[in-house]
Amino acid sequence: MELVDTRDLKSLDRNIVPVQVRPRVPYNLIMKNTYQKYAFKSKSIGDFEFFIDEETFTPTQTTTAIINSSLTMINNEDKILDLGCGCGIVGIIIANLNNEKFKLFASDISNSVEEIVKLNAEKYNVEIDVRKSDIFNAWKGYRFNTIINDISGVSEEIAKISPWFKNISCDTGAGGDNLINKVLKQSPDFLHENGKLIFPIISFSNEKEILQLANEVYGNVKLLKKDFWPAPKELLDNIDLLRKLKKEGLVSFEEKFGSIIGYTAVYEVSLSSD
Ligand SMILES: C[S@@+](CC[C@H](N)C(=O)[O-])C[C@H]1O[C@@H](n2cnc3c(N)ncnc32)[C@H](O)[C@@H]1O
Repeated sequence: MELVDTRDLKSLDRNIVPVQVRPRVPYNLIMKNTYQKYAFKSKSIGDFEFFIDEETFTPTQTTTAIINSSLTMINNEDKILDLGCGCGIVGIIIANLNNEKFKLFASDISNSVEEIVKLNAEKYNVEIDVRKSDIFNAWKGYRFNTIINDISGVSEEIAKISPWFKNISCDTGAGGDNLINKVLKQSPDFLHENGKLIFPIISFSNEKEILQLANEVYGNVKLLKKDFWPAPKELLDNIDLLRKLKKEGLVSFEEKFGSIIGYTAVYEVSLSSD
């Protein structure tokens, strides 16, 4: 079993510092001027700093796993959609590190997504079309070469007790699959021929059902990466709830050495041109 660097989880507080931002754009385009900074550090990817606010998801190891899986998959002139983008970290890092010129689009249901992502994209000199959107609502009529989905995918029951989803929408049901299932069903209408959908499955969701649907819709599910991590203390404090959900087949995890070990598996599916 590979245990990956848990810095993101353990030193979450040290990774976030409050900052005053002096906007370079007029105040009428920026509604707030107080944010926090989140420090992203990864040996394989590099160090970056992103503005977040109280409605922005704080990136985790799933973020790192998705970036690592998607970095080299981009071709020149591609249109890439970062779906469930939070502060825009996935698309912005990929654009910053990639030599290919591609067009970047991003969306999230959070209220401040447009101002936060614009600030972060400007900082890293990345051009982006960012929109507030419930799943694909804001992208009617668009088609992409790659959709990188990271919309909330943890069991709603676990999200409520976890440190991950404070002020963050996670309308996922007990099996954590309500939103990813919608993405799987709707995504073919937003992809070009041969287009790809990359998505993580967190072990605190019904992986079996999600993979079954992915196979029904696309039929060519490929595992790109699987990283194991120790779950935060809040989950261990609610072990009875976790055991109940596991017994019902809604989530999976291991209990080892007094810790709960979960995982992120990143998958790829694609539309074939046959
Ligand atoms: C796990 S976070 C990922 C954020 C970002 N990709 C990252 O790694 O930091 C999931 C994101 O999905 C967003 N979300 C939840 N429900 C959504 C929906 N119905 N439509 C679009 N985004 C949604 C949340 O606001 C949150 O930012």
